[in-house]
Amino acid sequence: MIPAMDLPGGLMLREARPADLAQIGDLLARRGDDNDAEDHRLVVHDPDGGFDACAVVVDGDRIVSTATLLDETVVLAGVPIPAAQVELVATDRDYEGRGLVRALMGWAHERSAGRGHLMQVMIGIPYFYRQFGYQYAIPIPQSRAVSRVPAMPAGYSVRRAGPADIPVMASLQNASQERFGLSMPHSGLCWRALVARAGSFQVVVEHAGQVVGTARLTPPEEDVVLGEVATDRPEAVAALLAYASELAGGEEIEAKDRGGLLAGYLEPPLPQAEDYYARVPDAVTLFDHLRPVLSARLANDDNDDDVIVSFFRHHVRLSRSKGEVTGVTAGGPMQAPGVHGGAGVAPDLIAPLLFGPHGIEGLARSHTDVYPGPNADLMRALFPPVEADLLTFYLP
Ligand SMILES: CC(C)(COP(=O)(O)OP(=O)(O)OC[C@H]1O[C@@H](n2cnc3c(N)ncnc32)[C@H](O)[C@@H]1OP(=O)(O)O)[C@@H](O)C(=O)NCCC(=O)NCCS
Repeated sequence: MIPAMDLPGGLMLREARPADLAQIGDLLARRGDDNDAEDHRLVVHDPDGGFDACAVVVDGDRIVSTATLLDETVVLAGVPIPAAQVELVATDRDYEGRGLVRALMGWAHERSAGRGHLMQVMIGIPYFYRQFGYQYAIPIPQSRAVSRVPAMPAGYSVRRAGPADIPVMASLQNASQERFGLSMPHSGLCWRALVARAGSFQVVVEHAGQVVGTARLTPPEEDVVLGEVATDRPEAVAALLAYASELAGGEEIEAKDRGGLLAGYLEPPLPQAEDYYARVPDAVTLFDHLRPVLSARLANDDNDDDVIVSFFRHHVRLSRSKGEVTGVTAGGPMQAPGVHGGAGVAPDLIAPLLFGPHGIEGLARSHTDVYPGPNADLMRALFPPVEADLLTFYLP
């Protein structure tokens, strides 16, 4: 438990308690979406969530700001990385601009570190979370207008999913994520919330008595968006599009592609970047955790020289033996890593370097303070472009 903390003006930051539920829900609904109160309730009542997953700032008895931290697992090239997702962030209008969310993000990051997380990911309002160490790192599949709605294929049907469908939906999602270098599955908590919440809902596609596909939809009261499509059958994709269109009463719908699965059905993407935020609090610990990934990437380099990556303010030295990365040592400021055969990467580009679609080569093209140095082939092998598929609490 993180102890309560006094804030200026007689305010206090503390973990949430059951008696706070209605006030937190009210604050979230007032500042965000009506469904946020339900989402918060589902999280704090879940066995993997709990009230201590949420913190509040109180002014006497009044709850004036809140944030929630969810446990997640991000998987890079088969290696699970303990991670967190910050959600359900809001401050009462009368208390904005006093640093309350800055304080709550401090709480979230302390809690996250205490739970052994090596990174955080989140969806959030533009720019704001950069102020707390987040970088735009991982592309979000855009919601694109559906240009062609197919008919429901014969023998296929789509129905809303319930708790009993979670195992089959999870296994279809796992299969879909296998081809991505970076993935984040829905946690157990998230699955339980997804089949209970009103803000989005799950469907399954059936054929010959078998579930052959799944997806997530926003409700018809909002603009219908089809996302998280998981199937290996083109007919199931068609069935999901036909279902979504019917749900929208024939109005225009949007859908998110996933690795080309919906190719031929969607308008071209808009020329607008959309990314998940990611934060790497300690590059040295993360690099050390990722030694199996780094070793595999360097498998074709039959040299055991140390590899240096400088973040300018500090650097890491990867030591190697018999083709394996055996250690990661932290070092101080290093302005010219190229002299030592190393690469330079600005510290605020570590998350895009490790988890993004550009790799060191792409980042070097658009950032003066990223360069692979004299061993460019080795650095390109170490930091390749990564294709990602994250499943988050909200359909972004
Ligand atoms: C966005 C919101 C959460 C900010 O809460 P807050 O308690 O006022 O934030 P803080 O005072 O801790 O802000 C931290 C810093 O960001 C700045 N800031 C505040 N709102 C900002 C915004 N919308 N965009 C960019 N910076 C902002 C503050 O000036 C402060 O800067 P400083 O630390 O250098 O002084 C609050 O305005 C809110 O609840 N909005 C409606 C709901 C919402 O958008 N939630 C977030 C969903 S992801």
